[in-house]
Amino acid sequence: MKYDYLIVGSGLFGSVFAHEAKKRGKTCLVIEKRNHVGGNVYCENVDGINVHKYGAHIFHTNDKKIWDYVNSFVEFNRYTNSPIANYKGELYNLPFNMNTFYQLWGVKTPEEAKQKIQEQVKKLNINKPKNLEEQAISLVGEDIYNKLIKGYTEKQWGRKATELPAFIINRLPVRFTFDNNYFNDKYQGIPIGGYNTLIDKLLEGIEIKTDIDYFKDQEKWNSLAEKVVFTGKIDEFYDYKYGKLEYRSLKFEHSRLEQENYQGNAVVNYTEREIPYTRIIEHKHFEFGKQSHTVITKEYPQEWSLGKEPYYPINNDKNKEVYNSYKAESNNEEKVIFGGRLAEYKYYDMHQVIASALSRVKKEFND
Ligand code: FDA
Repeated sequence: MKYDYLIVGSGLFGSVFAHEAKKRGKTCLVIEKRNHVGGNVYCENVDGINVHKYGAHIFHTNDKKIWDYVNSFVEFNRYTNSPIANYKGELYNLPFNMNTFYQLWGVKTPEEAKQKIQEQVKKLNINKPKNLEEQAISLVGEDIYNKLIKGYTEKQWGRKATELPAFIINRLPVRFTFDNNYFNDKYQGIPIGGYNTLIDKLLEGIEIKTDIDYFKDQEKWNSLAEKVVFTGKIDEFYDYKYGKLEYRSLKFEHSRLEQENYQGNAVVNYTEREIPYTRIIEHKHFEFGKQSHTVITKEYPQEWSLGKEPYYPINNDKNKEVYNSYKAESNNEEKVIFGGRLAEYKYYDMHQVIASALSRVKKEFND
C-alpha cells in the first residue's frame, strides 16, 4: 500500500485528520471533488477581498483548546459578528437587545423593554403554541415576531410560519443590555489572510489531488491506502440503498461593485417576506478591508435536490431513520472512518467539526 490513509474531502474534518496523521508519521493522500481545497470554508480572492463562496463563516468558540489549536496555524482578527436587520427599509440591531428595543419602541431602560415585551406576550395569551408563529409570539410578542422573525424564517424554510412546527424555536435569546455581539462565546474572529491560510497550513506537506470524485474510481483509490477517511455524503457511500438524506440548499449571487462600501456591515438580514433573499454579505468587512471595490453576495434559500449543494440537514423523523440505517452499517466498516458534516449528517459549526476530528484522531492513534 502506498499510503496509510486516503482522505476523501479536504474540508476542516479531512484537513485536521490529515495534519494530525502526518504529525504522527503517517502518509496521507487527500482527494477532493471540487477544484480547490477547504470544503465550505474556502474563500475566493477577488483583488484582495476574500469572498466566502459557500456562505459567511465566522469562527467562534468557548473552547480554549480549539481556539489555541486554530491560532497555532493562523492569527485571528478582532471581527465581532453584529448583524443588522433591514425590514422594509427600517434598520434594527441584532441579536435582539436594548438597541433593537430602542429602535422598535423608543424604550430606553431594560424595565421599559421587559414591560413592552410582556404586554405583547400577554395580549395574545398563547398557552400551548401549535406552530412556530405561536411559539415565537409567546416568547417575544408580535412586533419582534412580525418585523424580525416571520419573513426571514419563512424564506429560510420555504414554508409559512403557521405550517412550521413550534419546536424549531426553543428559545429566542433576548438581551437587556446594549450589546450587539451576536455570539456569547469567549473567542471570535476571522483568520488573518482568510480561511484558505488555515487550510493550507493544515495541509502543508501532504499530497493532494483536486477535481477527483472518489466514486468515479472507488476501487482504485481504496487500493492505494490501508484506511479511508470519508467526509462525503454517507448515503452516497452506500449508493442510497436506504434512501436519500434530505437537505436545505442555498443559492449565492456574488457581485463585484466598483464602490468602496456598499452597506457598512458584513451581514445585513432582509427580514421581510417580499424580498427573496435572506441576507446580503459584504465580504470586505470581515477583514476591515480598505479596497476601492467591494464584493457582495445575496443568499437565497432553496429546495434541495440531488446535484444541488447540500447545506443544512433536515432533522425530521424520516431522515433520522434513514441516517440510522446508514450509521448502523458504517459501524461495521473496519477500514473506513466516517467524519464531518456530510458523513455524519449533522450541522457542525467549525469549532465543533475540528473538535470532532481531533477526538477521532485520538481514538485512531490511541493517544
Ligand atoms: P465540508 O463540506 O467543508 O468538506 C467536505 C469535503 O468533501 C468537500 O470539500 C467536498 O467537496 C468533499 N467531497 C464530498 N464528496 C466527495 C467525493 N465523492 N470525492 C471527493 N471529495 C468529496 N460554522 C461556523 O463555525 N461559523 C459560521 O459562521 C458558519 N457559517 C456557515 C454558513 C453556511 C451557509 C453553512 C452551510 C455552514 C456554516 N458553518 C459555519 C459550518 C461549516 O461550514 C462546517 O462546520 C464545515 O465546513 C464542516 O467541514 P467538513 O469537513 O465536515 O465538511
